[in-house]
Amino acid sequence: MKQGLRPSAVVGRGDDASKRNSDKPLLQVDSVEASYGPYKALFGVSFSVAEGSAMALLGSNGAGKSTVSRVVSGLIPATSGRVIFAGQDVTGLSAWRIARLGLAHAPEGRSVFASLTVLENLQLTFRRSLGKEAVGDALAAAFSEFPRLGERQSQLAGTLSGGEQRMLALAKVLAVPPKLLIVDELSLGLAPIIADEVFERLDAIRSRGTSLLIVEQHVGRALELADRVVLLFKGQVSYEGPVSELGDLAHQVLPTQGSPAAGEQDT
Ligand SMILES: Nc1ncnc2c1ncn2[C@@H]1O[C@H](COP(=O)(O)OP(=O)(O)OP(=O)(O)O)[C@@H](O)[C@H]1O
Ligand SMILES: [Mg+2]
Repeated sequence: MKQGLRPSAVVGRGDDASKRNSDKPLLQVDSVEASYGPYKALFGVSFSVAEGSAMALLGSNGAGKSTVSRVVSGLIPATSGRVIFAGQDVTGLSAWRIARLGLAHAPEGRSVFASLTVLENLQLTFRRSLGKEAVGDALAAAFSEFPRLGERQSQLAGTLSGGEQRMLALAKVLAVPPKLLIVDELSLGLAPIIADEVFERLDAIRSRGTSLLIVEQHVGRALELADRVVLLFKGQVSYEGPVSELGDLAHQVLPTQGSPAAGEQDT
């Protein structure tokens, strides 16, 4: 259920937006390799994300996108190579330490506690990440950013729509505005109008200074938001550069299929 790459979207924001960014790297992934037991998933992956920029991390199923996200955020170790974040070598640091440095990761799938209400989900996460005293302010900020969650704060998270669950997942990782937000397949399975709303939130988050690393199968939307692209192919980088220069390479590497069938969508 991949959305095909729209050639017009390849233009993206391209260099216009990147001119506003600093060249200073916020994240540097340097020759990273990673494995799951005997299965090697990444083979010397290198790329960097500049401060204030948005990078789309693209590639077909199984290319290694989520593995890169997991290594960068410390959920799985790199078997070799280095990850530098905010000027610090974070290779081998635990996920919570990396999070404290300002890296937020909204992982693939629905990362909410289904049997708790929206309010309880946020309270639990904020209490853990910020401490009891800061919960009130963080809740107010979350409900102002995502008014729909405010309206539904007593609803069980498991009964929220797919789009609302993604917003709740985002609200949970945005308690403290991170330096870098990694989102993995945030719009997967969402109806286009809801996916648009989720991407509008991402754009707003970025405009407040958070850099983005966007893993997406809705390639067109990711490229509209991103300045630069890293393409992964079988665990290796096949392109890193501006969206505007991706051109035909995208068509070679990414499968081009139709939009998700209505039955596969989930609002
Ligand atoms: N927990 C795991 N155990 C074993 N192998 C895994 C595990 N997770 C991922 N892999 C393998 O690692 C490779 C990269 O997987 P990864 O999930 O990073 O791909 P992806 O690009 O995110 O794909 P998708 O677009 O389908 O989400 C794949 O071959 C996959 O089968
Ligand atoms: Mg994945």
